[in-house]
Amino acid sequence: MEIDLNGKVALVTASSKGIGFGVAKVFSMCNASVVLLSRSEKNLEEAAKKIWQETRKKPDYVVADLSDENSLKNAMGEIKERKPSIFFFSTGGVKPGYFMEMEKEDWDKAINLLLHPAIYITKELLPYMIENKWGRIIYSTSTAIKEVIPNIALSNVVRITMAGLVRTLAKEVGGHGITVNGIMPGMIKTDRIIQLAKDKAKREGTTMEEALKNLSAAIPAARLGLPEEIGYVAAFLASDFASYINGAMLPVDGGKLNSTL
Ligand SMILES: NC(=O)c1ccc[n+]([C@@H]2O[C@H](COP(=O)([O-])OP(=O)(O)OC[C@H]3O[C@@H](n4cnc5c(N)ncnc54)[C@H](OP(=O)(O)O)[C@@H]3O)[C@@H](O)[C@H]2O)c1
Repeated sequence: MEIDLNGKVALVTASSKGIGFGVAKVFSMCNASVVLLSRSEKNLEEAAKKIWQETRKKPDYVVADLSDENSLKNAMGEIKERKPSIFFFSTGGVKPGYFMEMEKEDWDKAINLLLHPAIYITKELLPYMIENKWGRIIYSTSTAIKEVIPNIALSNVVRITMAGLVRTLAKEVGGHGITVNGIMPGMIKTDRIIQLAKDKAKREGTTMEEALKNLSAAIPAARLGLPEEIGYVAAFLASDFASYINGAMLPVDGGKLNSTL
């Protein structure tokens, strides 16, 4: 049983680095034609080159800022021209902090980054998927949906709306050969997490390796996940093997979540 996405075009957002990059690389390994998206052309060029070196397939890319409605609208023509039938949504991170530290502007920014682009892009891509009676929509969120994470109030509150989006769409478009699912990554070793570990090490007068080890201590798998490990799940969900998985929110977290449901 081999996952083959040959003939499918996959739009992967926030994919010049991190989780999105890992997913784009795995999609490319599975022979999909990948369209990368992020804010920086330079980062995208580097990402496309790396994927080419590792998979011998060169992805396309589109430059856009997910949090900027006009930037996304400008990019949408280019995206739709490529006719994606797989949409993997990841995005940038929001400002950390506790509830009382957040102002209305911070909430607006979080909603504009975590929720609005997912809704906008989905609405633009769905007509093509419906017409072709086949589509895969996968939203990458966070385990914060199941279990709040201290010090990231914005993410804890806003991301749960994505679970509502998954369930709503699964019901509304499930009859058209389209599945809509969510992935909740646990702690994944990306630039963001490495920076976090570096900051922690500096504060605590230890090494980055030690800080990463401490972060891993609460994870039953005893290590951080790799972006490609989100990619393997996403590739399965994008394949025909997962045609009966619709409306699910899957944790990919090495067993870190404590919630039983
Ligand atoms: N890593 C984890 O452990 C983890 C766990 C759960 C959830 N998450 C969430 O998953 C998402 C991705 O995290 P990550 O660790 O992969 O981060 P990362 O390594 O920092 O990568 C972030 C990616 O997002 C792009 N990006 C950022 N803001 C953007 C915007 N406004 N428009 C378009 N692209 C944008 C960046 O590219 P450019 O700079 O080129 O634009 C980059 O490709 C974040 O929302 C994070 O909170 C991460």
